[in-house]
Amino acid sequence: MSALSHDQGLVAVTGANGFVGSHVVSALRTAGFPVRALVRKTAAAARLRAQGCEVVLADIRDRRSLAEAFAGCRAVVHLVAVIRERGGVTFDAINRGGTADVVDASVVVSARLHGATVVTSDPADLLRIDPALNIEQP
Ligand SMILES: NC(=O)c1ccc[n+]([C@@H]2O[C@H](COP(=O)([O-])OP(=O)(O)OC[C@H]3O[C@@H](n4cnc5c(N)ncnc54)[C@H](OP(=O)(O)O)[C@@H]3O)[C@@H](O)[C@H]2O)c1
Repeated sequence: MSALSHDQGLVAVTGANGFVGSHVVSALRTAGFPVRALVRKTAAAARLRAQGCEVVLADIRDRRSLAEAFAGCRAVVHLVAVIRERGGVTFDAINRGGTADVVDASVVVSARLHGATVVTSDPADLLRIDPALNIEQP
């Protein structure tokens, strides 16, 4: 992940309460960045608020919640992914489709996008979304 600078302002983090997300949030807060943490369960909110994060509820499968959650953010760190398929929770729905929607919502608000590895059936999917996108490699 490339370095963020303070003048990049509010940073949105998807998967903020996940394994990687919680470490990224801590690092961002320690470095003094204002963080908007995206979670889908209110139970995750207290710890993140105690760290000084703004917390918003957003599900990666809900496009509209993403656009609203990213409003006013200068950067988005995307850390939602599943490593196991179950029912409607598929690589295609979450890892490819969810990431595509995160990319779209980031572009709408002109936020710079950073991400961790994403599991898809074909990693080239990300480049096919839009080759002109400024997707940061970890
Ligand atoms: N763990 C590692 O060692 C490692 C190493 C390299 C790269 N990575 C990459 O880092 C990323 C995150 O991995 P992780 O280990 O942190 O995974 P994790 O602990 O399972 O966290 C995944 C996060 O995604 C959220 N999430 C899942 N489905 C969602 C949905 N529909 N809407 C909104 N949020 C949803 C989860 O929220 P809930 O708590 O609500 O389920 C959780 O916060 C992945 O891309 C992974 O490939 C991980």
